[in-house]
Amino acid sequence: MAKESLKVWQRVLAHAGRLSDTSLRSLFSQDLTRSVKFSRTLWDSKDEIYVDFSKQLIDDQVLNELLALAKDLQIIEQFTEMRNGAKINWSEQQAVLHTALRADKKQTLNVDGVDVIAQVHTELDSLRKFANSVRTDKRFKKIVSIGIGGSDLGPALVFDALSPNYKTAVECSFIGNIDAHEIESVLEKSKASETLFIVCSKSFNTIETLTNANIARNWLATKLGVEQNSKTLADHFVVVSAHPERAIEAGVIAANSFNIWPWVGGRFSISSAMSLAPMIAFGPDIFDEFLAGMRAVDDQMQNSSPENNVSLILGLIDIWNFSVLGHTSQAFIPYAFQLRLLSDYLQQLIMESNGKSVQVDGSATAMRTSPVVWGGVGTNAQHAFFQMLHQGTDVVPVEFIGFSQSVHDQRVAHDALIANMFAQSKALAFGRTLEEIDAEQTSDENANHRVMAGNRPSTTVLARAMTARTLGALIAMYEHRVFVQGVVFGINSFDQWGVELGKSLASELSNEISGSSAPTQKGDKDQLDGSTRSLINLYRQHRKN
Ligand code: F6P
Repeated sequence: MAKESLKVWQRVLAHAGRLSDTSLRSLFSQDLTRSVKFSRTLWDSKDEIYVDFSKQLIDDQVLNELLALAKDLQIIEQFTEMRNGAKINWSEQQAVLHTALRADKKQTLNVDGVDVIAQVHTELDSLRKFANSVRTDKRFKKIVSIGIGGSDLGPALVFDALSPNYKTAVECSFIGNIDAHEIESVLEKSKASETLFIVCSKSFNTIETLTNANIARNWLATKLGVEQNSKTLADHFVVVSAHPERAIEAGVIAANSFNIWPWVGGRFSISSAMSLAPMIAFGPDIFDEFLAGMRAVDDQMQNSSPENNVSLILGLIDIWNFSVLGHTSQAFIPYAFQLRLLSDYLQQLIMESNGKSVQVDGSATAMRTSPVVWGGVGTNAQHAFFQMLHQGTDVVPVEFIGFSQSVHDQRVAHDALIANMFAQSKALAFGRTLEEIDAEQTSDENANHRVMAGNRPSTTVLARAMTARTLGALIAMYEHRVFVQGVVFGINSFDQWGVELGKSLASELSNEISGSSAPTQKGDKDQLDGSTRSLINLYRQHRKN
């Protein structure tokens, strides 16, 4: 955090002490307007998204102090600078312009002499044209999108989320892991002549994606009975990358290639060409709706008054929970089967962005930064980990996400689904006292094990329906919360140096495992630690048998 804001930060911290003996029960009984005061609409239209944060352990003073901190840190001004191309990813000397991917065509934005919005729309026009050609000539009935991290989770989330609501023109599978069981399980259910592979990699030097692209290419060549460099094969490949030249070097010859730019972070690339598979599946018009939802929230983040700025408020409440109250994890639990990938997606978005401990000036962060992000789907989660959420020793802030309308007409089931979501939020907040248990006249001698402490914070997001616009609005809100947190932490949310060491070590150990590294000469000190060496030896022994 900027040193100039430490005074305001001390005032925020002081409120934790003031509220330490307060409970949500008392906060609600003292103020009957609480649920109105601490709820907002993410965005006013027929697709509004209602956000109820009244079950967070805050009061007026806390919210006002957090907003004062945001003002002091100039969070909105910094967001505007980001949206205008400031090179805030300082360690990679890059702008951070995922917002440009959904900017209005009428806008312009000059970065290093290039109008990036014009670039985006030129690419979008090419993507729409290609998507429509695949949808109309119907040659390809299956799309296999190969990528990992943000090059996988984003498109897969969009496809899962929108599949029940919109008719898909093609079947889509998403492959990320280098564990070939995954790609094999997809290929065995695919017909080569009808399969289009979209190889998504911003860097095009990600070993998992390169390996899977090679497996796909060999499978296709064999099934189609053609040479590796045949045009027939190239017709079955599309590349999405910031380095298409590397795809060719890697032998991934594609008849179609689309751009992503260095100023789009992998975990912020859901609104880019990385999502070509769902764009083909549902059509460019639906994808445009998704982008419109994102744009609406970008505009709200930049133009709303702070006290009505939902993305800002939720980002500040995140800070309150992690860095003030000291909660070390955060659970996202959509009561929506379509959003079963949401917590995986948010794990990367939040933890890869803010799982850092060094500030922009090189000093150690002055506060706890990213929580452990996890989650599941309601109501399944109630039969897995809600016991811990209700009676565990750790308090975990929970975010519930639900939709009032359903595509199916199983009204009883949907009512029960949403009733469960509301019930869990209520139980976490207000618990159940020993007196209330006694009143139930249980036979328990010592009923302490039945007490639910409550006072466990949650936010409930209730949207009218899972439309493409609503999905876009929700994702943009999560992207901007990460930005808010990063500014308060004083870190760079847009690089990921922490993943580099593992990648380089894996490459060295692959050589050891395959036996291609130089043999250790007698008497030489083994460069490997004893544990790794033993594991490699055992693995190689197992592979021999
Ligand atoms: O996890 C590191 C990372 O670079 C992510 O940020 C990114 O989404 C993923 O790997 C895949 O990278 P690429 O799109 O360059 O293959």
